[in-house]
Amino acid sequence: MSNSNRSSGLFISFEGIDGAGKSTHISGLADAFKAAGRSVTLTREPGGTPLAEKLRAMVLNDAMDSLTESLLIFAARRDHLAQVIRPALLRGEVVLCDRFTDATFAYQGGGRGFDLHVLKTLEAWVQSTEGQALLQPDLTVWFDLDPLKAAERLAGARVPDKFEAQPVEFFRRVAQGYADRQQAEPNRFARIDAAQSRETVWQDVVTVFKTRAWL
Ligand code: TYD
Repeated sequence: MSNSNRSSGLFISFEGIDGAGKSTHISGLADAFKAAGRSVTLTREPGGTPLAEKLRAMVLNDAMDSLTESLLIFAARRDHLAQVIRPALLRGEVVLCDRFTDATFAYQGGGRGFDLHVLKTLEAWVQSTEGQALLQPDLTVWFDLDPLKAAERLAGARVPDKFEAQPVEFFRRVAQGYADRQQAEPNRFARIDAAQSRETVWQDVVTVFKTRAWL
């Protein structure tokens, strides 16, 4: 997959089912990149712009069918790419994005059982600009965790949103959705065993970046 529509920027996404524990590692990486002298854009999906954050609130809280949900998520993504991600990559920054399109394939495709061909079409529309290749992350760090363990971690942690309130079977399908995406594009994914201690997970995350000489 070519990413010719950028200069020396680096686009990293972070994925995993709810409760997999990616957040602390994302902020740790932001600090590590800054310490290495890189400019960092730390952002998330759905969200990352004022419009996309409004769409996020609807997607996370309001009941809707799967097509509506997918359209709102991709609409948010389109705005986020245009306003934040592409400009940051063109400035040569490191973009650390908490979730991206793999989450749509995992949650809407896997979890909800929504049509993957429609998602593929939306992906192509939203992540392409005229005359340029489809923009994908350079690397996707996937925090893989058994859905039962994730449910234990989430239990009582906070008031669950629409997705966090789903039963464990939903998250099994989401996890399978991630595994399918990894299988389709193994070189883009770095799988982290998120069942390990936080310290060991962090060591594994750092190793992923050091191996690529990005840190
Ligand atoms: P999350 O990233 O876990 O943020 P927080 O830690 O603040 O809860 O929450 C985003 C939720 O949105 C998560 O449950 C997954 C869901 N989601 C989708 O269903 N599809 C998508 O394409 C994306 C990006 C997120």
